Amino acid sequence: MLPATGAPEPVVDAVVALVRASGPYDIVSLAVPGGPVWDRARPGQLLVLPGAATRGEVLPRVLWLAGVRVEPVHGTTAEVVLPVGHGLVVGAGVRLLGPLGRGFPLPAGPTPTLLIGHEGSVVPLRWLVALLRERDCPVHTVLSADDPDHHLDLGLLRRQATSVVLTDPQELPAVVAARLDDPDLEVALVVATGPLTLVREVAALALARGLTTRVAAVDPGAPVVCGTGLCGQCDLVVGNGDGGGTTAAARTVRACLDGPVVPGEWVLGAPR
Ligand code: FES
Repeated sequence: MLPATGAPEPVVDAVVALVRASGPYDIVSLAVPGGPVWDRARPGQLLVLPGAATRGEVLPRVLWLAGVRVEPVHGTTAEVVLPVGHGLVVGAGVRLLGPLGRGFPLPAGPTPTLLIGHEGSVVPLRWLVALLRERDCPVHTVLSADDPDHHLDLGLLRRQATSVVLTDPQELPAVVAARLDDPDLEVALVVATGPLTLVREVAALALARGLTTRVAAVDPGAPVVCGTGLCGQCDLVVGNGDGGGTTAAARTVRACLDGPVVPGEWVLGAPR
């Protein structure tokens, strides 16, 4: 069962505490005011950095929440991952909104899980791997990238995941099918993040095998997403469980508010 969506969190003032390079990305730690919202945060939720006229930004920047650390002495930090050239330096003030939306639910017991992600959309999976391993879940990953240099934080994933398979978007469906059909893996839960076309392919493969599937229906890597329910760019046509989106019970959901993490069935409707 998915956790309930809360009311939008207010904008808070954060400070850049650390910037760590990771290939074409920087992992940025932001010191934020503590509070229960951060204790409850989980992979799959979003942060929004409102546009700032002083930085020449008209549109908000929507980001995955990459991790949260709550420490009694050092306070609370939230992590985001940005392509290099973002302009944030240690000590800079940042206004942010979040965490927003529903994250990935965590299994109650050890559950063999297959995680699939593409390039920068692997951000929430890095965090999810760690939480699943804490629950003794075998965690297998399939990571896709157009350019092998664009894989995110491979060293960390190789240390934490049970297995890591690298591929590209063209080969991804065949690779995922092979992993799902590997009897040694005994996959029971499938999780995917990335462009909607990718998560839709993964959902179709997993659901055809009767597997529980959770996907992110919003990809912050895509252009023009507000992350707050205003723009309508993330709307999905959802069927009544058959995945077709064409039944009398079909309805439209706003993925950033009703998700971004949704059951795989929800993304099998008609493409936008
Ligand atoms: S991303 Fe704008 S309404 Fe969902």
